[in-house]
Amino acid sequence: MSESEKKPAPGTEGTERAIPEQSASSPEPILKVEGLTKHFPIKSGLFGRQTGAVKAVDGISFDVRAGETLGVVGESGCGKSTMGRLVTRLLEPTGGKVEFEGHDITHMSAGKMRPLRRDMQMIFQDPYGSLNPRHTIGGIVSTPFRLQGVTPEGGVKKEVQRLMELVGLNPEHYNRYPHEFSGGQRQRIGIARALALNPKLVVADEPVSALDVSIQAQVVNLLDDLQSELGLTYVIIAHDLSVIRHVSDRIAVMYLGKIVEIADRKSLYSSPMHPYTKALLSAVPVPDPKRKGVKSERILLKGDVPSPISPPSGCRFHTRCWKATEICKTQEPPLAALKTGHQVACHHPENAPDQAPGEAVLPQARQSVELVSAGEPAAAEAAETEAPDADASDIEAPVAGAPAEAGTGAEAEAAAQAEAATGAAARAETAGAAVEAAEAARTPEAAGPDSPVQESTDK
Ligand SMILES: Nc1ncnc2c1ncn2[C@@H]1O[C@H](COP(=O)(O)OP(=O)(O)OP(=O)(O)O)[C@@H](O)[C@H]1O
Ligand code: SF4
Ligand SMILES: [Mg+2]
Repeated sequence: MSESEKKPAPGTEGTERAIPEQSASSPEPILKVEGLTKHFPIKSGLFGRQTGAVKAVDGISFDVRAGETLGVVGESGCGKSTMGRLVTRLLEPTGGKVEFEGHDITHMSAGKMRPLRRDMQMIFQDPYGSLNPRHTIGGIVSTPFRLQGVTPEGGVKKEVQRLMELVGLNPEHYNRYPHEFSGGQRQRIGIARALALNPKLVVADEPVSALDVSIQAQVVNLLDDLQSELGLTYVIIAHDLSVIRHVSDRIAVMYLGKIVEIADRKSLYSSPMHPYTKALLSAVPVPDPKRKGVKSERILLKGDVPSPISPPSGCRFHTRCWKATEICKTQEPPLAALKTGHQVACHHPENAPDQAPGEAVLPQARQSVELVSAGEPAAAEAAETEAPDADASDIEAPVAGAPAEAGTGAEAEAAAQAEAATGAAARAETAGAAVEAAEAARTPEAAGPDSPVQESTDK
């Protein structure tokens, strides 16, 4: 078993990487992004006139310092992959600026980009689709050498085999085809290809999401080891907060084409400021023996993510936020540093002074969230079905979520219904109380910056 395989799985307490000192003090960022935008045109009609645009990335700014790992997290469709392709210039930005090692590469021509491409590489989201099935592994991993016209010392084959060994593949499999490898091995092939030209920056788009959990741990640990060995800088994109927590020094949270919060890992996980981040984190189970038997609550966001074609006005999260007020509907909150190294775009942040005190919570905010007790299996299961009130007759029995001791057949069903009813009642109470508490916090006489919804959900 390799060293990397011995390490525990990502997300396990105590396995996180130590934050390197340079992440707090390194002066020059390797990558600088300012107001980056990508609008994909929507064309229709006989003449293909543009009738709208998908605002996939809509004005994001961040830096990545040499040697650090920036994790980028957010729901599906929020623009993570587009952002990755923009910063590596696989896509042409609509607006904004991308600087790599001091060079403005925003609209650099393909010819001028070629030498810089050696220093910035991408690992693609899909380990199956990103490898040409008609090429051998040797051919795939040696592609960057061919494209760049580079002949490594000792020849291409020797170098490719060295890279295969580096990522834990058998160099004798040089002539095999992608279909002869497992998902984890294919992802390693993608990593070997990305490392071929000894890059400085690697953007890894969901490097482990297509893999089994056990293989995920191996690939994450491999990325970690390669970073220490080769001094790489990473931007790692994922929607899994356990993976992001394990690999990142700093984390950017994206929602509908925007960065809503960016902070170092500890600060983000211990005191998230954006309500969206708080909701995302509440869904992640925290393995902590001290909390055994303690019930925690999950914030379930209701409703779908709005369309990036016509995103909501003001704060894009206001249609799903339990703290939304009138100002949230009309004014977009700027991404501001409310603590050292911790930026957030919110008028009413958690764990920080309210940026727009005295505003009343919008009536629809009451329906935007549901609190679920994570300690009660039947309640959590019931939350997945629509159970708007506490009446048992309205609840479809979530038999699969009922405890094993509940019996079998009709007996189990009845028990499950009863469990679900209790869970729904508890939920209805806590969610209602939390929203009322949030509303109280928005009134002028509310005491202190921390909203009661924080207290009621942070258990
Ligand atoms: N080439 C394209 N043309 C038009 N729309 C696009 C294109 N690429 C992406 N989009 C749209 O841009 C939005 C962001 O897509 P993107 O792939 O960046 O999301 P993502 O956060 O990576 O999602 P996932 O987690 O599912 O990979 C989506 O609404 C998507 O449909
Ligand atoms: S409180 Fe307002 S600004 Fe903050 S996330 Fe909610 S809707 Fe957006
Ligand atoms: Mg993606």
